[in-house]
Amino acid sequence: MCENFLVAMSTDAQANLKTRKILFASLLALICIVLVYAAFQRDKPWIVPEEVKKRKNPIAPSDSTLKAARGIYMHECAQCHGEHGKGDGPEAMMHDPPPSDITDTRHMNTVTDGEIFYQISEGRKPMPSFKKRLTEDQRWGLVLLVRSFSASSAPPIQEKKPDAGKNATAAPKE
Ligand code: HEC
Repeated sequence: MCENFLVAMSTDAQANLKTRKILFASLLALICIVLVYAAFQRDKPWIVPEEVKKRKNPIAPSDSTLKAARGIYMHECAQCHGEHGKGDGPEAMMHDPPPSDITDTRHMNTVTDGEIFYQISEGRKPMPSFKKRLTEDQRWGLVLLVRSFSASSAPPIQEKKPDAGKNATAAPKE
């Protein structure tokens, strides 16, 4: 009787081990799938509808629009993108993918104002959507501000100074 019991125990234990092995293997497979999926997601370009891409900024750049946008930026965006847009805000480390460096002139030259407007409006995890929180005008103001971050080598507002050559790269520091 005792023997029977032991045999029953061990087949039970074996069955148990087998289920656990299967569970473990499925778990590993699941983790792999998630990792691969995440890797693909990360490099996916933002898909922005053509008509939105072509939209022009209705707001004219001025000191007051930039100042207002700056206030919103410090409140809503700087914790991730950093005070000057480098993607080094205090919360940046908590996010994956990390917040973009929006001072990168080479990259920013490849996106249109309409695209930036769309990105701010829709967001993309972990970046939140701002279309409910901010008005259209506020978002277009932010587009101007975002542009100003990457503008050190390509000034957005053309200054007609005869001697602009030397000072053109020295962006005013606040
Ligand atoms: C919670 C952190 C977080 C906040 C807050 C946030 N962002 Fe982002 N932002 C991100 C991340 C992360 C990405 C990259 C998303 C991706 O590529 O999938 C991003 C991407 C962007 C991009 C696209 C840059 C590119 O790669 O072309 C712009 C523009 C931008 N953010 C502007 C803003 C503005 C303006 C605000 C405030 C209104 C803001 N973000 C608030 C995290 C944040």
